[in-house]
Amino acid sequence: MQPKTPSESLTILTDIVLPSETNPLNNLFGGELLARMDRAASISARRHSRRVCVTASVNHVAFNRSIPLGSVVTIESKVSRSFKSSMEIFIDVWIEDRESGVRTKANEAIYTFVAVDESGLPVEVAPILPETELEQQRYDAALRRKQLSLVLAGKMNPHDATELKALFI
Ligand SMILES: CC(C)(COP(=O)(O)OP(=O)(O)OC[C@H]1O[C@@H](n2cnc3c(N)ncnc32)[C@H](O)[C@@H]1OP(=O)(O)O)[C@@H](O)C(=O)NCCC(=O)NCCS
Repeated sequence: MQPKTPSESLTILTDIVLPSETNPLNNLFGGELLARMDRAASISARRHSRRVCVTASVNHVAFNRSIPLGSVVTIESKVSRSFKSSMEIFIDVWIEDRESGVRTKANEAIYTFVAVDESGLPVEVAPILPETELEQQRYDAALRRKQLSLVLAGKMNPHDATELKALFI
């Protein structure tokens, strides 16, 4: 299968925070952000694989900054690494200052999607070729994140998690 670059799956979702999407502190509700990130990530997975893709795991979410009511929120997602049927999607969340327009990184997250056929069975996806230094860093660390996710899900024996073990030896 022909390799693809992360930028071919780049997805950018820009939206505003409405009152119905906030918590009692008037900041964006965490579940709403998770849903928006899931939507962007699923489009990235589909752009990479050109197949139906399902969320297999939410590997990491850091709610580093709260996002106030009325903020303009931009979610950028890309495939950081593909394996056989699964894809790691890296998501960066930015908020935009109303007056200056300056963007500040608010959050980031990592999701895993799996490409499936019409009956929901995993199918192979294209390999990925990172281009930038950041894409290469994310690619290099993706295998140990996959192993960690599988160990936590009870789908991999910790003894087989070679990349994870290498961190501690
Ligand atoms: C995701 C799903 C297709 C995986 O099916 P499965 O029978 O476990 O298939 P496999 O064991 O062959 O796994 C398929 C791939 O997913 C990866 N995977 C499965 N669970 C994973 C997890 N928790 N973390 C990371 N990767 C995972 C496997 O490593 C494998 O990757 P690879 O093919 O690239 O090596 C299946 O569990 C499913 O359909 N889940 C429901 C998805 C869904 O409905 N999502 C929306 C939630 S509301």
